[in-house]
Amino acid sequence: MDRAIARAAEARGRAGASAQAPLSRTFRFFKRELELHLRKEEEVLFPLIRRLETAVHSGANPPRFSFGSIANPIGILREDHEGESRQIGRMLDWIGNYSGPPSTAHIFDPLFDRLQALDADMRLHVHLEDEILFPRVRLLEGES
Ligand SMILES: [Fe+2]
Ligand SMILES: [Fe+2]
Repeated sequence: MDRAIARAAEARGRAGASAQAPLSRTFRFFKRELELHLRKEEEVLFPLIRRLETAVHSGANPPRFSFGSIANPIGILREDHEGESRQIGRMLDWIGNYSGPPSTAHIFDPLFDRLQALDADMRLHVHLEDEILFPRVRLLEGES
């Protein structure tokens, strides 16, 4: 994806539009944020959820976390979701509003498709966590 975006930014630069390449900047930022987000989930939140679940199911004392309720880290991850979804929206707008020479369509059309696929993946990710996983964790914490 990085390469496709770099080509698109280049083509847009050649087409006389802003050579600032806001698309590749947004994409780089998005990628960094998302990688960090996934690490926070995999390395911090999910293990915490597992500990909570194990304690609740075994009837042991619930773990006490230094940050208080598990709702606190969840709140941060929900904010990440909003930010990352906004960045994808911005990239889709940027390409969607692009009206360059038809000769560059072969660069932009597939990129638009890939961004749309990324958008769909992101929506699913956000749905599964915000609507299903996180509410369950809140319930689990309420039981403990
Ligand atoms: Fe996730
Ligand atoms: Fe997430």
